[in-house]
Amino acid sequence: MKQSPIIAPSLLAANFAHLGRDAKSVLAAGAQWLHFDVMDNNFVPNLSIGPMVCQALRDDGITAPIDVHLMVNNVDNLIHAFAKAGATYVTIHAEATPHVDRHLQQIRDLGCKAGLAFNPSTPIAMLENVLDKLDLILIMSVNPGFGGQKFIPQALAKIQHARQLIDQSGFDIRLSADGGINLENIKTISDAGADTFVAGYTVFKAENKQKAIEMLLSLA
Ligand code: DX5
Ligand code: ZN
Repeated sequence: MKQSPIIAPSLLAANFAHLGRDAKSVLAAGAQWLHFDVMDNNFVPNLSIGPMVCQALRDDGITAPIDVHLMVNNVDNLIHAFAKAGATYVTIHAEATPHVDRHLQQIRDLGCKAGLAFNPSTPIAMLENVLDKLDLILIMSVNPGFGGQKFIPQALAKIQHARQLIDQSGFDIRLSADGGINLENIKTISDAGADTFVAGYTVFKAENKQKAIEMLLSLA
């Protein structure tokens, strides 16, 4: 069953010189989570922020769920570091490691919720083997590495398929879509079965963030 919609603004679209301020501004504007994109210039051709920044947001008084999206190859150390730094969800990529099962268990053992992400070209077949270890499935609707890209429509069929698998399993798993989500396409993405929506540019570049989040939520 689809859960109530959550908007998770991607901090990648924030002004990094004013990250705490920007993070608080989207939460005050009605966003329920913060989406925290971690890039290692290896799994993806870009470099972003790490556990110290997550800790800094917690130290600055942010209590909302932080949804850490690890676009990195070497997940072992970072899972530990982010659990320590106050991450709520830690999502790894299916393409990043041959040991998905072990890492998902690791994430839960450290007290975080476990997520698994799939690039646009990656089949989601492995889900059936790890559904019992998942709190979140993240379907990439752009190729990871950069914000502000165009939604890839092939993601919709994968979202539908993942929704079926979740519903058949009966597990309590959120289904998230990440990349290129805007006011025009969020309803279609929601109808396909997503209940969690990562939106960077659509929220942070909006003239009125509160209005943007309200509209996203009402369309979802
Ligand atoms: C892409 C990131 C996304 C992305 C979302 O590598 O995982 O979270 O930046 O931003 P928009 O909504 O701008 O596509
Ligand atoms: Zn992301």
